[in-house]
Amino acid sequence: MPVPEPLRSSAPHVERARPVERFAARTAGMTASEIRALFAVASRPEVVSLAGGMPNLAALPLDALAAEVADLVGRDGQVALQYGAAQGVPALREQICEVMALEGIRADPNDVVVTVGSQMALDLVTRIFCDPGDVVLAEGPSYVGALGSFAAYQAQVVHVAMDEHGLVPGLLRDALRTLAARGSTPKFLYTIPNFHNPAGVTLAVERRREVLEICAAYGVSVLEDNPYGLLGFTGRVYPALRSLDPDVIYLGSFSKTFASGLRVGWALVPPAVRDRLVLAAESATLCPPTFNQLLVSRYLATHDWRSQVKTFTEAYRERRDAMLAALTTHLPDGFTWNIPDGGFYVWVTVPEGIDTKAMLPRAVTARVAYASGTGFYADGFGSRQLRLSYCYPTPDRITEGVRRLAGVLEAELDVVHTFGTPARTPLHRGPQAPSPDTT
Ligand SMILES: Cc1ncc(COP(=O)(O)O)c(C=O)c1O
Repeated sequence: MPVPEPLRSSAPHVERARPVERFAARTAGMTASEIRALFAVASRPEVVSLAGGMPNLAALPLDALAAEVADLVGRDGQVALQYGAAQGVPALREQICEVMALEGIRADPNDVVVTVGSQMALDLVTRIFCDPGDVVLAEGPSYVGALGSFAAYQAQVVHVAMDEHGLVPGLLRDALRTLAARGSTPKFLYTIPNFHNPAGVTLAVERRREVLEICAAYGVSVLEDNPYGLLGFTGRVYPALRSLDPDVIYLGSFSKTFASGLRVGWALVPPAVRDRLVLAAESATLCPPTFNQLLVSRYLATHDWRSQVKTFTEAYRERRDAMLAALTTHLPDGFTWNIPDGGFYVWVTVPEGIDTKAMLPRAVTARVAYASGTGFYADGFGSRQLRLSYCYPTPDRITEGVRRLAGVLEAELDVVHTFGTPARTPLHRGPQAPSPDTT
C-alpha cells in the first residue's frame, strides 16, 4: 500500500499553537474536582469513600432486568437499537408525566424532553439561556455539576444562602434587589428544593409560593432540579415548584430512583421553551439512547417501581441513621451538621481554623474520603464545610469512615489549639467538573 505523502503547503511556515493555547475561553472555568485528583488513592478498597454520590444499586432486581433486556432485544431490537426522536420516546414521556404526578405536577407529554441524565438537561438549559457574563442565582452551596455547566457557558453565579428550611426568601429578595440596582436581571434561579445536594435540607412548603412570587416579581425564571424528590424518609412527598407554577422549568431523573448508568433524565418545559430545547438536544446528541429509554419504559410498565423506590429509601434511611449516630459518637464539640430527611447527604460545618480542602489529603491518608465544601460554591467559600455521602457504603463502613474522619479532625483541632488559626488558603477558585466521585 502506498504511504500517503505528508501534508505540504506553499504558504510560509507558521508555528502551530499547542492545543492548550487554542482552547475556547469558556473552558477556563473547567477544573477537575478535588477528590478526582485523589481518586487513584481514594478508590482503593481500604479507603472508605464518603465523597461520592453514587446511588446504591444493590437492591435492584438484576435477574428480572436481565430477562427484560433479553426480551427487549429479542422482540423490539430493530427499534431499540435504532436512532429515535430527539425529544425522546413518546411512551416514556407519558410515563414520566405519571411519575411527576406524584409530586402534584400536571403535565403534557409534549412538553417533556428526555435527556442523557438531568445533567444534560442542565447543560442544555444553560446553553439556551445564558450568554457569557449572564447572572444565575443558585443556593449556596449548590450542586457541583450545575456550577460546572454555568461555568462552561461563562455565567456568573450569585449564591443565596439557605437555613435549615432551605433557601431563605428574604435573602433571595435582597439579592434580586441588589442586582436590579446594578441593572442586572438573572437569567434564572437554579434551585434543588428537596433533599438538597450538598446541604441535605428541604425547602419548607410555606416558602415555596413565596420563592416563586419573588422570582415572578423580578421577571426571573425558575429552574427546579429534583432528582431526589421521591427519596424522602418520612413518606412525605413535597409539592414540586412546578406544580405551583407552570412557567417553572423542571428537571427530573431516573438516576436515583432506578439506575444512574442508564443516563435517562428529562426536562419539563413551558411550550415556549420546548422547541429551542429540542433543537439544542438534537445538536448535542441527535437523540437520547433509544435502548435505555425503552428499558426504563418497560421497567416502569412491568415492575412495581414504587415499591423499589421504597426499598431504596429504606436502605438510605438505615445508612443515614448510621452516619448520624457515628457523627454524634465520634465528633468532638464544635462541629454541626444537618439531619436530612431524605436524599444522600449530610453537610458538616467544622470549627474555625480547620480548612476542609487542605485537610483532604490527610483524610485520604487516614483512609477516608469526603467532598470538601469549596467545590459547592462558585465563589470560593466552603472551606469550613464538608459533604458526607451515606448513599453507597454499608452502615458498618459508614461508621468506620466517620470514626477515621473524627481522628483526622481531632488532629487538626489539636494543631489549631496549639498554633492558633492558620492563614486560609486563597478562597478564589472555579467550580469543578462533575464526576461520579463528587456528584
Ligand atoms: C442535584 C443534582 N442534579 C442533577 C444531578 C445529575 O443527575 P443525572 O444522573 O440525572 O445526570 C445530580 C447527580 O448527582 C444531582 O445531585
